[in-house]
Amino acid sequence: MSGLIGRPAGTVEGATYSNAMRSSGITWDSQTLDTFLTAPGRMVGGTRMTVAIPNATQRAAIIQYLESQPAD
Ligand code: HEM
Repeated sequence: MSGLIGRPAGTVEGATYSNAMRSSGITWDSQTLDTFLTAPGRMVGGTRMTVAIPNATQRAAIIQYLESQPAD
């Protein structure tokens, strides 16, 4: 998932997203990712991502990794 940080949600060419994700208005950064990963459906009602990461330490590690990945 390279090039996520700074990218608007639901905009990868060729990917199939829910309307909820495409119209969410989110831009991915450490804060929006933390909120989304805590409870995806609470931030983006109707998202098809149903897996949450309730553990804050795990979220921080994942976000740190994503922030280390350069844009495409
Ligand atoms: C470290 C684990 C994960 C992270 C960081 C993550 C993050 C994300 C992000 C940021 C998006 C939005 C993508 C975009 O805007 O281009 C997304 C979408 C999605 N994810 Fe995850 N995800 C994870 C795990 C999973 C897992 C395990 C599943 C399924 C078993 C899943 C299913 C989906 C689906 C179906 C979407 C599209 C949602 C929609 O269009 O409403 N994700 N994910």
